[in-house]
Amino acid sequence: MKHRYYITTPIYYVNDQPHIGHAYTTVVADVLARHYRRLEGGDNVFFLTGTDEHGQKIAQEAQRRWMQPKEFADLMSQAFKKSWQLLNISHNNFIRTTDEDHKTSVQKILERLRQAKTPSGREAIYAGTYKGLYCVGCEKFLTAKELVDGHCPLHKTKPQELEEQNWFFRLTDYLPLVKQKIEKGEINIFPAERRNETLGLLAQGLDDFSISRSTVSWGIAVPWDPAQTVYVWVDALFNYITNLRWPEEQERLDIWWEQGQVMQLMAMEILKFHAIYWPAFLLALDLAVPKHLYVHGFFTIDGEKMSKSLGNVVSPNDLVDRYGADATRYLILSQFPFGYESDIRVEDFTQKYNADLADGLGNLVSRVVAMAVKYFNGTVTIKRQRPKEFLHQVDELIQFLQFREALLLVWQRVAAADKLIDEAKPWRLAESDPARLKDILERLLSELDTIAVALEPFMPDTAAKIHEILGGTPLVKPAGLFAKIKE
Ligand code: MSP
Repeated sequence: MKHRYYITTPIYYVNDQPHIGHAYTTVVADVLARHYRRLEGGDNVFFLTGTDEHGQKIAQEAQRRWMQPKEFADLMSQAFKKSWQLLNISHNNFIRTTDEDHKTSVQKILERLRQAKTPSGREAIYAGTYKGLYCVGCEKFLTAKELVDGHCPLHKTKPQELEEQNWFFRLTDYLPLVKQKIEKGEINIFPAERRNETLGLLAQGLDDFSISRSTVSWGIAVPWDPAQTVYVWVDALFNYITNLRWPEEQERLDIWWEQGQVMQLMAMEILKFHAIYWPAFLLALDLAVPKHLYVHGFFTIDGEKMSKSLGNVVSPNDLVDRYGADATRYLILSQFPFGYESDIRVEDFTQKYNADLADGLGNLVSRVVAMAVKYFNGTVTIKRQRPKEFLHQVDELIQFLQFREALLLVWQRVAAADKLIDEAKPWRLAESDPARLKDILERLLSELDTIAVALEPFMPDTAAKIHEILGGTPLVKPAGLFAKIKE
């Protein structure tokens, strides 16, 4: 039986332009989606991304620009769509939390939650008062312990003191079950450090939390208490199932969420929401917990935290402009292993582009085809047996989220092919032993074919171009794949 894969990214806040951090997660999800489509057929993969558009942070940012929140969200959501188009992202849907369908479904889900009873037989939703310190940047309450000199450690701002009558979710009643599911691996959190971090949070204990706001008007109305809006994180998490038209429809949910391989990508700053709150909500609704949470680190840029005030925010659009879509995908995936905090050295991008792509892969393709044209009028054929073991190894690395390692393996092959040419000295063989030269060229063309196959999920256009070149009868000298860039 074929497996189905439901692959999601976080839905990004529209208060800001898309940057390389958002791009990283989205490209990773795209590589997985393309990989599984190839393995299982296109119909068996659903890749979801989108934008998170409600809440105080967005409302404030819109106000700062003298815009209506919806008008502002429309504009910014469009910017994310545009960037994903530039990066050749192959999502099946781009969800917006301001979509009418999403809003209606969230209200229906809340009604259901209100009917739900916790494992100890109590109501899952209750009215309560909350007093705490709220960080608008994080859109969450911070505990006194989390503060650094009274400021949010991430946003360096002073949180606001809030005291509100809100609706609460009885999280505490679900925590033992969530813990059990993580321990048993029913919720698989990768890498293991993040799993341990989550279990650590559970060991410290968490409180019930408020799922509505009386002071925020930019949000979805709580159906039984329209003076309150749904807390933006609750609204956002449900996107993963409102996309499947739940609760209005059941079938899509069964196929993709309940029975499918669910893979949710994110960075670690939103792990608590995805590994604890989200499964608890799902348990309250009697739905399956997310099967795989794939969590990567936050990265800095040339050693600095990315921030508007430092002016070092890297736009994926600028990268695509300079290097093209495939090269940008390559550059951001090949710098560090998935899962860990790391530094992106944008200053090294051009050098790496020139070395690995222009002088590496691009040059190899032109060199091999040029020889086939020069010595045999382009009539050399490919020996089609593809090295199964190698391609299988690349597939496995992708499945284990070892993207950088998979690319390294492919580039070892590029280097080996270059070495083969240098050692064979084709210009001499052309005179002394043309049959041997033909054999070597056949092997090299097969290598290019293998490399293109391996690169399909990572660099889809490049792979297609190489295959187009190899498909020529006779082969003709191609235009360069990657023009060299001045450093
Ligand atoms: N809207 C919430 C998510 C709701 S999901 C139900 C949110 N949005 S966000 O715009 O802040 O995006 C956060 C995600 O963007 C991170 O989890 C990560 O995937 C990506 N990244 C944003 N900045 C990043 C870095 N500096 N480094 C790595 N990834 C980063 O949180």
